[in-house]
Amino acid sequence: MTNTQTLSRNAQYYLDLEEKHGAHNYHPLPVVLNKGLGVYVWDVDNKKYFDFLSGYSAVNQGHCHPRIIESLKSQADTLTLTSRAFHNNLLGEYEKYITEYFGYDKVLPMNTGVEGGETAIKLARRWGYTVKGIETNKAKIIFVEGNFWGRTMAAISSSTDPSSFKDFGPFMPGFENIPYNDLAALEKALQDKNVAAFMFEPIQGEAGVVIPDEGYISGVRKLCTDYNVLMIADEIQTGLARTGKMLACDHENVKPDILILGKALSGGTLPISAVLANDDIMLTIKPGEHGSTYGGNPLACKVAITALQVLKDEHMAENAERMGVIFRSALTKLNSPFITTIRGRGLLNAIVIKHENPDAAWELCLILKENGLLAKPTHGDKIRFAPPLTISESEIMECVGIIEKSLKSLA
Ligand SMILES: Cc1ncc(COP(=O)(O)O)c(C=O)c1O
Repeated sequence: MTNTQTLSRNAQYYLDLEEKHGAHNYHPLPVVLNKGLGVYVWDVDNKKYFDFLSGYSAVNQGHCHPRIIESLKSQADTLTLTSRAFHNNLLGEYEKYITEYFGYDKVLPMNTGVEGGETAIKLARRWGYTVKGIETNKAKIIFVEGNFWGRTMAAISSSTDPSSFKDFGPFMPGFENIPYNDLAALEKALQDKNVAAFMFEPIQGEAGVVIPDEGYISGVRKLCTDYNVLMIADEIQTGLARTGKMLACDHENVKPDILILGKALSGGTLPISAVLANDDIMLTIKPGEHGSTYGGNPLACKVAITALQVLKDEHMAENAERMGVIFRSALTKLNSPFITTIRGRGLLNAIVIKHENPDAAWELCLILKENGLLAKPTHGDKIRFAPPLTISESEIMECVGIIEKSLKSLA
């Protein structure tokens, strides 16, 4: 922590509790939040901040969106969980709504994003054996370097980041990595007849908002079709209006064979993920072969319908697109010697910090916090700027002012 910062005794109390009783698997910014509304959050000392992380893009609709909270509350009073041992009156309605929304035959509801990824891989392997005709237990899934899709054993088995996989082996077989944004490498990998699927993010979020060249996503689509390999798009972070379109694949008018959604599917209220595919893929999994106690629960179904409705009704993709352009242009005009790169699409943005202090990105986030804006570094020198999609132009400009002032303090 910078020596200019001290925590209140009130805040320190909560940090100490976590330090003593919780596992040390995170390194949060020293701020303790207890309230959120729209683009703002408040700490336990009632200091107000702009939230430029949005729960890693789970809170696209803004904190405690009144319509989403109303759905959550009314359904919580009525029926929350039946398990899939019985039907419930909201599952079918939700399944109809989300499949029509995204144009797929079927949805498989899960909870966390990483479960969505696991589900997609199971579907792809099953399709590989029963439809494509891959020899038993030979199926391969191709991933890209820098991928991030969660923390389960399968997810870390595909990771190229040692902080994800080191000392957690042995790993899942049948996974292979190729460079991101490299269609030639993909074509080479797909020549192996045992490849069932290619799984990737259309923009790599955790890697630091890495945007592929124009034509990459449509190139992936074409190669997957040509080689009879399933295209799996992990849109858990890029999806649901974050990048200025409902899905990042929409920027190149591409429809993946398997689409994975999570995060903002609940507007930040509870873990809801979904895997969408057509019948030829989805119906390869039969009753009893996959599922989850909470997947498709009525509370989640009700909330997800509203979370999706709100995105469309409030034109959040359009706002993300417009505000993203304004934000990046205003950041560029700052001409800061400490920013080497400004990149992003819609409101999924990142800057790369250059400074003699290797911890400068962390230091900058601490200064931003003091000045009323919360953001978090990723991979040392990158800071993601991803506010709720409801942010207005005047708020964006106020935030650029905070960033400008904070960069000056870094000097
Ligand atoms: C692209 C992507 N996929 C999957 C996940 C995993 O989601 P969850 O943390 O809900 O399991 C994340 C989480 O950050 C993500 O960014």
